[in-house]
Amino acid sequence: MLISSLRGRLFAGLTVFIVGTGVAAGYLAFRWAFEEAIELQDAILLQVGSLASKSHLTDLPAEGSIDGEARVVIDELTPRPGDPAPAGSLPRLPQDLPDGLQTIKRGAEQWRILVRTRKDGSRVAVGQPTANRDEVAQDSALRTVVPLGLLVPGLMLLIGIVIDRSLRPLSKLAERLDAKQSAHLEKLPTDGIPKELLPFVASINRLLDRIGTMFDKQRRFVADAAHELRSPITALSVQVENLERAGLSEDGRVRLESLKAGIRRTAHLLEQLLALARYDADADAEMPDSEFDRIVKEIVADLLPVAQERSIDLGFARIENVSVRGDPVALAMLVRNLIDNALRHTPAGGRVDVSLFRQGEAVTLQVVDTGPGILDAEIDRIFEPFFRGSRSRGDGTGLGLSIVRRIAEWCHGSIRLENVGPPDGPGLSACVTFTAVSETTSQA
Ligand SMILES: Nc1ncnc2c1ncn2[C@@H]1O[C@H](COP(=O)(O)OP(=O)(O)O)[C@@H](O)[C@H]1O
Ligand SMILES: [Mg+2]
Repeated sequence: MLISSLRGRLFAGLTVFIVGTGVAAGYLAFRWAFEEAIELQDAILLQVGSLASKSHLTDLPAEGSIDGEARVVIDELTPRPGDPAPAGSLPRLPQDLPDGLQTIKRGAEQWRILVRTRKDGSRVAVGQPTANRDEVAQDSALRTVVPLGLLVPGLMLLIGIVIDRSLRPLSKLAERLDAKQSAHLEKLPTDGIPKELLPFVASINRLLDRIGTMFDKQRRFVADAAHELRSPITALSVQVENLERAGLSEDGRVRLESLKAGIRRTAHLLEQLLALARYDADADAEMPDSEFDRIVKEIVADLLPVAQERSIDLGFARIENVSVRGDPVALAMLVRNLIDNALRHTPAGGRVDVSLFRQGEAVTLQVVDTGPGILDAEIDRIFEPFFRGSRSRGDGTGLGLSIVRRIAEWCHGSIRLENVGPPDGPGLSACVTFTAVSETTSQA
């Protein structure tokens, strides 16, 4: 039998042990108490026997308070005239019984008999049915076993509680590990942890440390690679500008344009990669307060020409003066990515509504568009780097939403994407929520 849980193993092992010990102890206690009670009854027989051998006693009188079955019966083996017949309808005892204690069959029952010979040669027997003696002995023996019988379940309950308590730090530890997000790899605390678990916690902490170092290395590699690629891309751009001035044929100009577009896309990808690597860093960095409404207005103003070019109605549904704790450059990047996505996926003639408002302690930025929305099957993967949905339009990198989410989390906020169904949709609503900074709460 294999029990996979430590709790189960401990409990099963201890239960087997306790029940086993309990049964053995119960059996022994019963036997000893039983034998003791039988010996006690023999002693009584001996006492009554010695009384009966001293004087000529007939049957002991039946006292009201004595259990009739427990009574000791006295028989004269050599009856004199006038002696009463043996009690009830018991057959007479044989004359030739030897002196002393013995167990014999008398009628249908077993009897325990003590035979004595008096000085005058007459003989007397005192006796009790063994069934009665056994019953009395069993009763008293059972009474010694009862407390044991109560002790075993009591002990098992206690053990269950102790095991549960002792193993609680383990489940707590697992919960803490599960709650860890990849970006926050701070060590597990060691105080309050049982001694046996300390080496385990220490090695988990060393592992977390190594993972943290690995993350750092990976981040630095991406940032360095993107950074290193910037110079050749800039050099390429300069060369393209030079070519433009060199006076090309019509065909050459067309090709040059597509080369320029390619270089722009690559430069954009590099910027996004750099951003992704940058905002992955230390989440506990000290954040300044930023006037979020000003940032949002700037980005919207910046993107208005793009919206007009695509005949999309970009505007504010609601805007309040709010500040949030966060890096302004990062916040601007977040807003730009969201509105850029909305503009890119909304067909000509559609709308993109931006709202910024405060509700209690929460500041919400909402960007709602009238595009196709995101397929339900893809909505879980949409924040993965380089993932682009099957309905994506334009030449994106698939990094935008990853960056948005990292920035939101970096600034202790969260993002939620939701498809807007009919009658207001189809479309996508992107909501980013931050904690408000308390001072600036006046309405615009
Ligand atoms: N407003 C939107 N409407 C519809 N689909 C969207 C919208 N925003 C993002 N998506 C989907 O999410 C994918 C990932 O977005 P993102 O990470 O910004 O990458 P990119 O914009 O570079 O494609 C997009 O490829 C697109 O399929
Ligand atoms: Mg995007």
